[in-house]
Amino acid sequence: MPTMLVTGGAGFIGANFTHYTVRHHPRWRVVVLDALTYAGDRASLGPVAGDITFVRGDICDADLVDRLTAEADVVVHFAAESHVDNSLHDPEPFLRTNVVGTFRLLEAVRRHGTRLHHVSTDEVFGDLPLDSAQRFTEATAYDPSSPYSATKAASDMLVRAWARSYGIRATLSNCANNYGPYQHVEKFIPRQITNVLRGERPRLYGAGVNVREWTHVDDHNAAVHLILEAGRIGETYLIGSGDERSNREIVELILDTMGRPVDAYDHVPDRPGHDLRYANDTSKIRTELGWRPVYDDIAAGLSATAGWYRANEWWWTAHKERAERRYQELGR
Ligand code: NAD
Ligand code: DAU
Repeated sequence: MPTMLVTGGAGFIGANFTHYTVRHHPRWRVVVLDALTYAGDRASLGPVAGDITFVRGDICDADLVDRLTAEADVVVHFAAESHVDNSLHDPEPFLRTNVVGTFRLLEAVRRHGTRLHHVSTDEVFGDLPLDSAQRFTEATAYDPSSPYSATKAASDMLVRAWARSYGIRATLSNCANNYGPYQHVEKFIPRQITNVLRGERPRLYGAGVNVREWTHVDDHNAAVHLILEAGRIGETYLIGSGDERSNREIVELILDTMGRPVDAYDHVPDRPGHDLRYANDTSKIRTELGWRPVYDDIAAGLSATAGWYRANEWWWTAHKERAERRYQELGR
């Protein structure tokens, strides 16, 4: 059986990716490497615990990464510090994990000739004006705004340099905002859903006009599998649903689907440097690989996601206490 090493597999997208792989691509033996930071949770892998191997460890640990990479046919690299607000407050862990950690993986795949897929974000491109038809493409120049996106941009650059200079077999993807089950409650959608579930009001940064292209996590992970199967080595693919929504629209949809008045939310101070709008042109992955999003109804997707958080309070209660304590410190 070929072996797939999944870094960050106890986080939101990595855990959903692991579930997806076990369910739809059972030919793979999956090994998850995750440091279980505040954002990682072994319980997210509970449904597939018997089908995978879990290794608790740090992607900055060169010896561990070398050993696991030597035994793998493919590495799918999700592990990262992923939250913009945290990066504004304390950038250093972002430098360490996103830059040094990716460097360690690159050195290991270089030594062992292992195929790598690097998972990245549309935030590396900076932002777009509101109310324009512009979209990011694979050729858009990098212009990151936050310490998070700057370190993800650095990691992408490292992957591209290792591909060109050392000939490593790597692909990259830059996806828009994801939503779905097992997302940490510090993030926008689960924060608002769990606020409502606790009888508290959603909290909108600034006026709530910023726009994101919400993409279901399973659509993202289906795209990653297509890239692994048929993506061209050295290439980058943008991923996104095409469904752009302002934050205010999303909060109103959440309140509506959860049976609350649509204006029952509060405005809180804005995030410094807050990116206005992200939107990806996904022609390349659609044309070359035939990828299409399956989740094309955001109201239905939010309703299902709210249902998941309602049914799995045990999974998020402890995370919620910690996340809200941090938000209190940040005044948001
Ligand atoms: P997450 O924060 O939910 O999960 C990150 C995981 O990485 C956690 O399990 C954590 O324990 C692990 N991790 C952190 N530092 C580590 C280290 N040093 N060694 C080993 N493991 C470590 O993040 P996510 O939202 O699932 O994002 C996963 C990837 O997808 C990231 O690379 C992110 O940049 C990218 N991405 C996220 C989105 C989104 O909307 N969430 C969109 C596009 C791309
Ligand atoms: O675009 C992909 C990126 O999407 C990923 O690379 C990041 O890892 C992921 O965290 C996400 O970044 P954002 O900053 O867009 O996501 P976040 O969930 O933090 O916020 C989404 C929007 O909602 C953003 O405009 C800020 C706003 N927001 C967020 C929170 C937590 C609020 O209005 N209120 C909130 O309480």
